[in-house]
Amino acid sequence: MLEKARENAKKGGFTNVEFRKGDIENLPVEDSSVDVVISNCVINLAPDKAKVFAETYRVLKTGGKLMVSDTVLIKPLPEDLKNDKDLLNGCVSGAILKEEYLNLLKQTGFTDITIHKETPAFLPDYGLSITFSAVK
Ligand SMILES: C[S@@+](CC[C@H](N)C(=O)[O-])C[C@H]1O[C@@H](n2cnc3c(N)ncnc32)[C@H](O)[C@@H]1O
Repeated sequence: MLEKARENAKKGGFTNVEFRKGDIENLPVEDSSVDVVISNCVINLAPDKAKVFAETYRVLKTGGKLMVSDTVLIKPLPEDLKNDKDLLNGCVSGAILKEEYLNLLKQTGFTDITIHKETPAFLPDYGLSITFSAVK
């Protein structure tokens, strides 16, 4: 993905961008240095979502914005589905309950948490795709 991103930046003539390899639970970014964090369908894959939100909070400047599309659960997954690798790839089995997810954001210190869109996710009896923003 990094190679592809760098190729695309080159093709587009974008010289004011850089791409860093990192883990979402340990961002290779300095404290309070970022205006906006965006993420599409990655947080559900991270085992420690509290760490992800803490890292996001750490790197954002005060007033900085988080803009995310992710999958949450509308009800708990049965044990057999929790361990289903295809469902992890489908961004469902790593997801946590919507209420728990939003509470984690609040506990981290984020404010103005606004859900902009909700659509059924893969395995719609359990999964919900949400697009939301939040402010540090
Ligand atoms: C469903 S894809 C989404 C990719 C991209 N955000 C997009 O919108 O096309 C999930 C991506 O998350 C990455 N990923 C999974 N766990 C990660 C982690 N702990 N830290 C950083 N990236 C991770 C995977 O390598 C994969 O590229």
